[in-house]
Amino acid sequence: MKILVVGGAGYIGSHMVKQLALSNNEVITLDNLSCGYKDAVKYGELVIGDLGDNNVLNQLFNQHKFDAVMHFAAFIEVGESVINPGKYYHNNVCNTQVLLDAMVKYDIKHFIFSSTAAIFGEPQYTPINEAHPQNPINPYGRTKLMVEHMLEDYDTAYGLKSTCLRYFNAAGADPDGELGERHNPESHLVPLILQAASGRRADIKIFGQDYPTEDGTCVRDYVHINDLCEAHSLALAKMQKTGSSARYNLGNGKGFSVQQVIDTSKKVSGKDFNVVITDRRAGDPAVLVADSTLARDELNWSPKFDQLETIIETAWQWEMNFFAQ
Ligand code: UFG
Repeated sequence: MKILVVGGAGYIGSHMVKQLALSNNEVITLDNLSCGYKDAVKYGELVIGDLGDNNVLNQLFNQHKFDAVMHFAAFIEVGESVINPGKYYHNNVCNTQVLLDAMVKYDIKHFIFSSTAAIFGEPQYTPINEAHPQNPINPYGRTKLMVEHMLEDYDTAYGLKSTCLRYFNAAGADPDGELGERHNPESHLVPLILQAASGRRADIKIFGQDYPTEDGTCVRDYVHINDLCEAHSLALAKMQKTGSSARYNLGNGKGFSVQQVIDTSKKVSGKDFNVVITDRRAGDPAVLVADSTLARDELNWSPKFDQLETIIETAWQWEMNFFAQ
């Protein structure tokens, strides 16, 4: 297949590009490099351009007949989305619509969308399945939900088939050591802890130790990047076979607390580092765990890196290889 990966120079996109290319697909990455890195695109062609730029899209779609488009090019910082919502609505919603309209114009029928657990907002129950009410509590989550709604309407009106994959906490790195997580600024727990372990950061701060959880720290569902990518490939195959749109929650179904992630990271890295307890971060639910039964049943998805230790090992290998001084 020929697949356009929008945002293929970012963390999840670059792993996806690799997996698709190694499964004999022809992959083209479109990325404006605002958050991604040129050297993260190890496979296929990289086109530097914006997903909201009609000229770039026209050129790409005239030149190639894509079987599908995968979209990873969203801004993802919850805190920033509260301070600067315009940036989020513009890129995550408006630019995505430009992309979808171009797909309609060029009759490309299959779209895989990176959605998020943030569309559910404060959990009313856990684990969170697809039937959970959708009530995002920040602009980031709202932009993702808006696109999910847009996709429903584009299916009804234009027959554009889509699969929305709601990631819980993507973590870990390419087990070959070729790719990893490189956000700037970094805000995610696992890379921040490993920066503390490698000495690139003075400490790791725990945002709140007074949550109603076993050890008082927040619980999240960490799912390995390769498992997430695998779900995309399975979802695309399924969508092409059935001709139906779908939505799946993707996680391991197991929650780990911030404290457990820190303890496991100390064990995996063999390093001790400073841990500082600070106030809660605004907008953090106590527990976010996925019920991925639907993805397991319908896609035959079965995460292979379901141990926190293995997930952290791959991330640590990346931290050691890539950032070694
Ligand atoms: N945390 C700390 N210290 C840090 C960083 C994070 O204690 O320095 C805690 C957070 O408070 C949270 C947990 O670690 O409890 C995980 O935080 P992340 O920032 O790594 O991830 P989130 O759960 O906040 O966010 C993830 C995705 C978002 C998505 C969200 C869905 O990264 O894109 O899940 O709710 F929106």
